[in-house]
Amino acid sequence: MIDDKKILFSGMQATGSLTLGNYLGALKNWVTLSDEYECFYSVVDLHSITVRQDPAELRKKARNLMTLYIAAGLDPVKNCIYYQSHVSGHAELAWILNCFTYMGELNRMTQFKDKSAKHADNINAGLFTYPVLMAADILLYQADVVPVGKDQLQHIEITRDIATRFNSIYGDVFTIPEPYLGKAGAKIMSLQDPTKKMSKSDENPNASIYLTDDRDTIIRKFKRAVTDSLGCIKYNEEQPGISNLIDIYRACTGMTVEEIEKEFDGKGYGDFKLAVGECVADMLTPVQTRFDELSKDKAYIDGIIKENAEKAGYYANKTLRKVQKKVGFPERVR
Ligand code: TYM
Repeated sequence: MIDDKKILFSGMQATGSLTLGNYLGALKNWVTLSDEYECFYSVVDLHSITVRQDPAELRKKARNLMTLYIAAGLDPVKNCIYYQSHVSGHAELAWILNCFTYMGELNRMTQFKDKSAKHADNINAGLFTYPVLMAADILLYQADVVPVGKDQLQHIEITRDIATRFNSIYGDVFTIPEPYLGKAGAKIMSLQDPTKKMSKSDENPNASIYLTDDRDTIIRKFKRAVTDSLGCIKYNEEQPGISNLIDIYRACTGMTVEEIEKEFDGKGYGDFKLAVGECVADMLTPVQTRFDELSKDKAYIDGIIKENAEKAGYYANKTLRKVQKKVGFPERVR
């Protein structure tokens, strides 16, 4: 707890171009939850280098992501928005937690399996221990809740296991975090293959809506979305394409599945796709405008980067010192 508020932690990688999946699965919920919790939102650049990055490009993308957090509606005064690499406690706690995590546990992580298949020429130790760094992120701030998309649930589960193991040896050191999934949008699927997750790294640009796509592009991509030949707008397993569009519409409008099915009863796929495209464009356009404005204000963003890194560092160090003491590192002499 900080000032009687429960604590929330989440983060996003600055690699690739952010998609509608990142927005609906994570960022949009972050904004909704930000009043209720004491929030830490990190641009997780340490995680990004598990895959080779161009340094200048990574720096630029990290800054853009920081700006996007604010453009999407996170108030940087109320929420602690910071770069993971500016708080050394993440890497320090990750090392300690590495010594409390089993190879067998990490071997089971589906994201490791996927990423090592994709980057077969660079299966580095960081890629393997990635979930431990993620556990460190969360546990460092004693987070109660972690809003993520479905693809991250396995990582929250291992975080809980590591924390429980540590607590069982040393007493109540870490808060055991709970994942938070939005009612809709926790797993947005590709527009070209609705059995696959919408992903930043998809090679087909029509498969994903990028947060930088303009209105026409968004509407065009929805028009081209793969559906089926059944001709009815129903949420069910036989219609993964239509179900995905319903899920997107639901996440944007807050309507229920029944309300959406009713609204489009008897209407064609063309009408429905257009409606989904328009509501996504209406949702993203103000974020894009604000992003462009904020990007011009270098001093403002710099100020946030500095202040919030200090704030995050303060809370991170509190946990880190406690953990260091528990495991038996010598106390600092002042
Ligand atoms: P990342 O950067 O891949 O994704 C950021 C967030 O977006 C969600 N997401 C989706 N949600 C719905 N549908 C999709 N198609 C979709 N694609 C992505 C992800 O679930 C995530 O919430 N390892 C994390 C970043 C991280 C983190 C953390 C998250 C590092 N430390 C601590 C929470 C807590 C990642 O790579 O997310």
